[in-house]
Amino acid sequence: MLRLSNIHTYYGNIHAVKGVSIHVNPGEIVALIGGNGAGKSTILRTISGILKPASGTIHFGSDDITSLGPESILRTGIGHVPEGRRLFKGLTVRDNLILGAYSRRDRDRIDDDIDAMERLFPILKKRKGQIAGTLSGGEQQMLAMARAMMARPGVLLLDEPSMGLAPIITAQIYAQIKALNLGEGLSMLLVEQNARLALNLAHRGYVVETGRIVMEGTTGELRESNEIQRAYLGKGYREVWE
Ligand SMILES: Nc1ncnc2c1ncn2[C@@H]1O[C@H](COP(=O)(O)OP(=O)(O)OP(=O)(O)O)[C@@H](O)[C@H]1O
Ligand SMILES: [Mg+2]
Repeated sequence: MLRLSNIHTYYGNIHAVKGVSIHVNPGEIVALIGGNGAGKSTILRTISGILKPASGTIHFGSDDITSLGPESILRTGIGHVPEGRRLFKGLTVRDNLILGAYSRRDRDRIDDDIDAMERLFPILKKRKGQIAGTLSGGEQQMLAMARAMMARPGVLLLDEPSMGLAPIITAQIYAQIKALNLGEGLSMLLVEQNARLALNLAHRGYVVETGRIVMEGTTGELRESNEIQRAYLGKGYREVWE
């Protein structure tokens, strides 16, 4: 459904993504794992059109979206929850949700979708008049995901949803991500530095190192890999999974 073929992306003369080919099938959660500076966020920014690839192609369904701008890409159905959440911090929770739907033409259904998001993330209903910048980290992450969902995407790009959150809040966010996948059959490309979390939730995964995919497989296969255990899962892995 979403397919990148041999994508190269640069920041000036920094070659951040070096020939990446990945795909996400309908209904699938696909994890991109890798350390700091590996190129994970750059891959997501290239898909959502914030950055233009120097070469390679990106297809979404049968459409070639490689040369489209961010707004058109959003309209084709690719939602992006960026690193650091990037809310409209001075606006209320409700206004953030309404702005999430700005690309849509079926404006009469926006209220229904806000209701649906408030059912999935009940805290957003309680906080609807609150200024987004005053929400807790976990609440901000929920709002960022709900705002992206307001565009009714067919695939959601999630960049480190667990960043800076306590384990109990992370578990809650991950349960909600799973519910979105199961409930709406939504496909997701999930970036995480926390490989244990990502490999537990996703169906398949890719490992990114210095701009390249160095390993791929089902998450079961990746969890079994000695290299992954050593490099990304660390000590204690076996106690958690076995
Ligand atoms: N705006 C930018 N200008 C120049 N170089 C950048 C910029 N953003 C990222 N880079 C470089 O591109 C490379 C990939 O960065 P990227 O943010 O994609 O990594 P990442 O895998 O998301 O890392 P992290 O897990 O720390 O978020 C890094 O070497 C980084 O320094
Ligand atoms: Mg990143």
